[in-house]
Amino acid sequence: MKILILGVGYVGLVTGACLSDFGHEVVCVDKNVKKIDDLEKGILPIFEPGLDVLIKRNVEARRLSFRHDLKKEVFNSDVIFIAVGTPTSVESQEADLSSLFEAIDEISSILAEDQIVVIKSTVTVGTNDRLFEYLKSKEKKIFSVVSNPEFLREGSAIEDFMKPDRVIIGVRNDISERIMREVYKPLYLRDFPIVFTDPNSAELTKYASNAFLATKISFINEISLLCEKVGADVKEIAKGMGLDGRIGGKFLRAGPGYGGSCFPKDTLAFTSLGRKFSAPQSIVEAVIIANENTKKRMISKIENVFESNILDKSIVFFGVTFKPNTDDMREAPSLSIIPELLEKGAKIRIVDPKGRSQGESLFRGAIWFENPYTAAKGSDLVVILTEWNEFRALDLEKLSARMRTPYMADLRNIYQASKATEAGFEKYVSIGR
Ligand code: UGA
Repeated sequence: MKILILGVGYVGLVTGACLSDFGHEVVCVDKNVKKIDDLEKGILPIFEPGLDVLIKRNVEARRLSFRHDLKKEVFNSDVIFIAVGTPTSVESQEADLSSLFEAIDEISSILAEDQIVVIKSTVTVGTNDRLFEYLKSKEKKIFSVVSNPEFLREGSAIEDFMKPDRVIIGVRNDISERIMREVYKPLYLRDFPIVFTDPNSAELTKYASNAFLATKISFINEISLLCEKVGADVKEIAKGMGLDGRIGGKFLRAGPGYGGSCFPKDTLAFTSLGRKFSAPQSIVEAVIIANENTKKRMISKIENVFESNILDKSIVFFGVTFKPNTDDMREAPSLSIIPELLEKGAKIRIVDPKGRSQGESLFRGAIWFENPYTAAKGSDLVVILTEWNEFRALDLEKLSARMRTPYMADLRNIYQASKATEAGFEKYVSIGR
């Protein structure tokens, strides 16, 4: 099957690489000429574990290629995946669909009725209908527009694509269903659940899933605050709750608040959709506020270590990306925490295995280090903000011995207070313990 992927952002690139690995002939196109030129040379625009190997393998097998000429490629393909960016619109807080409609405008006159257009980008509910009507009115033909939202997590995107919990596909006719079964045949044969539904339900499933996961995180983060007040341990609570099969243990890790390109954007879009249709999503409205409060609370937590006097204190951040195994800095809690500490006169050092290329321009005045022990030398506080594997098994004695004042704020609850104290840390604070 010949597949065209429009947009080589995170979603498009992973989808293209994985579909080519299934055996399809995949061509990826993007308006950004440099990105395509780089990809042709084997340079990836993002860091995602395993993606470089997957791309190399499929490029060498001539199943995957990167091209500039969109029109020619549309002509040659059976299925066209739209994976362009849909950032938050400043006016409406919903997904900004301008790139999606621009892409459609560019290809609509060459689209044939037997080609399938698949919306992979995260879009507001009703976009499939809008696109279908738009194409019909423009070209006076009946097209198949399919909604196939993505559920990949950065850092484990390939595994999520190859072994999904489910694939959701919104179709409006049997022909598109048959073709989409063909696209996902390797998954279908291995019994991964493929759910066919209508386009509106597919679009809403994506938002509802992300909103629910964000709710779990904000819920446990608020519980962690209560734990601190009443003297309970949030990790114990999460374990106890999670063993109930109806609740499930995943996404109950308390931390500095959720970030990334998805939860913050999608919860805003979801609540704004609710308001638009007079179906208020008050739970998720509260989730957004709780997340903002959680991020702010991290600043007070750090200030409290120094009894509010952080002027000239040397603070080392271990991890600044929004989660491990990515270089993505979008909506990372570090963006709310570090600039405020810099503003208040703290001296900031950063160690992050992949965050420097995107992070350097975001934290003016911060100094970057490669090695955690070198970074900690003569410092006053180590803050573990992102749980990279590199920070999970630190030699705490070696670390504390190098610091001017051995204090630690473990915002991912990696270590135990007793172990940190034994290792020479004079103060150790964490989340909800
Ligand atoms: C999320 C969803 O998990 C994917 O299913 C979805 O496809 C994706 O958004 C998307 O819409 O594209 P992602 O943003 O890559 O994936 O990362 P997550 O692993 O979900 O983490 C999001 C944030 O929540 C991170 O800041 C993470 O640190 C935080 N988190 C996660 C917690 O604070 N506690 C947890 O228990 C889990």
